Amino acid sequence: TGGRSFDVTTEELAKHNTVNNCWMAVRGKVYNITPYFEYHPGGVDELMKGAGKDGTQLFDEVHKWVNIESMLESCYIGKLKATPVPVE
Ligand code: HEM
Repeated sequence: TGGRSFDVTTEELAKHNTVNNCWMAVRGKVYNITPYFEYHPGGVDELMKGAGKDGTQLFDEVHKWVNIESMLESCYIGKLKATPVPVE
């Protein structure tokens, strides 16, 4: 916590889609879930389904009650920008 945060475009989010560099958005918030892989009770493959994407739907289908905001507080990167801003 305490770090600076910034808005993340869906394009930027999509670049982080591997086990060694993985971001996922849930309910408008983007997290770096790379350090969490080894702790996920549902395993790596399940977590990878949301890699580089908005995983809100998958997340809520399986465990809507899980408090991701407190669990991944230190992994928070920034807000998901719904519509990427066109460059130039
Ligand atoms: C289980 C956290 C993303 C699939 C769990 C559990 C936690 C957790 C705490 C245990 C829940 C319980 O026993 O009540 C997270 C966090 C996520 C995340 C923090 C986001 C960073 C996902 C995604 C999927 C997924 C994207 C894909 C569908 C599962 C499954 C289980 C599970 C299938 C059940 C494992 C079992 O009980 O056999 N997750 N999860 N999770 N998660 Fe996730």
